[in-house]
Amino acid sequence: MGTIQEAIAKARATRNATGAEPAVATTSGGPASAQWQQLPTFKPSIRRLRRNRIVAADGGRPAMDFDVIRTRMMQVMATNGWKRVAITSPTASCGKSTMVLNLAFSLARHREHKTMVIEADLRKPSIARTMQIPQEHQVSRVFEGRATFEEHAVRVGENLIFATNVNAVAGSAELLQSTGTVNTLNDLTNRYAPDMMIFDMPPMLTGDDTMAFLNQVDCVLLLAAAEHSTIKQIDACERDIASQTNVMGVILNKCRFVDPDNAYDYYE
Ligand SMILES: Nc1ncnc2c1ncn2[C@@H]1O[C@H](COP(=O)(O)OP(=O)(O)O)[C@@H](O)[C@H]1O
Ligand SMILES: [Mg+2]
Repeated sequence: MGTIQEAIAKARATRNATGAEPAVATTSGGPASAQWQQLPTFKPSIRRLRRNRIVAADGGRPAMDFDVIRTRMMQVMATNGWKRVAITSPTASCGKSTMVLNLAFSLARHREHKTMVIEADLRKPSIARTMQIPQEHQVSRVFEGRATFEEHAVRVGENLIFATNVNAVAGSAELLQSTGTVNTLNDLTNRYAPDMMIFDMPPMLTGDDTMAFLNQVDCVLLLAAAEHSTIKQIDACERDIASQTNVMGVILNKCRFVDPDNAYDYYE
């Protein structure tokens, strides 16, 4: 085994040893449920979400493209026993955060499925603003060991949690690979037993934050923007991701001309 593979295997082993296995199954009742109930709740405005292209909250035709991706994702992740997925792109503004939110709301319509969204784009946080979460949440402070998760997260409905940031963070790459962050994620896995943790990441080619974090996730969804991302960029990202974890798929986003029966060009 080469050195990178060895390092990855070691990181995985540490993650598992420190408790990647959920302590409780995610059925109703039990300590994990009690944890979920303790979080403050928030009800986003559906109209505001729609204005920001978040259309998957109430199902129906607008949600259909996201529902297809959601279902495929759930199948692939369940088959492989994967729980943590990162969503990234080669460069900025490919639609990552929009995709994260749509997938999260689509997943939440499966009432048995518990989803946790963690905003790990600490350079350009956007989720709190898009959703208009009223509290000044800053999950980076939890990673730094300066606050509890419960002070910086909200529950939407029964089975969806958002941990977001109002401000950008200096030294974000170092923070993302710190022991504090690794331990926080393991602790959340143990206490909340989410079926899926979705990480909204920064782009891959404009900093090292995502590369620094990839050994913490089981798989990655790579978003490319039509007429913007190049094949060369996508190839480079796929190779970098594959050196650390699993590439779950590549989605060509922001297509202007699409077959209405196939709104996303490819997904593997
Ligand atoms: N599929 C899409 N088609 C057109 N515009 C989109 C699409 N997805 C997102 N956008 C828009 O592109 C901009 C950047 O989206 P965002 O999700 O914040 O990207 P990122 O998180 O990758 O920086 C936003 O104005 C958003 O509304
Ligand atoms: Mg974003």
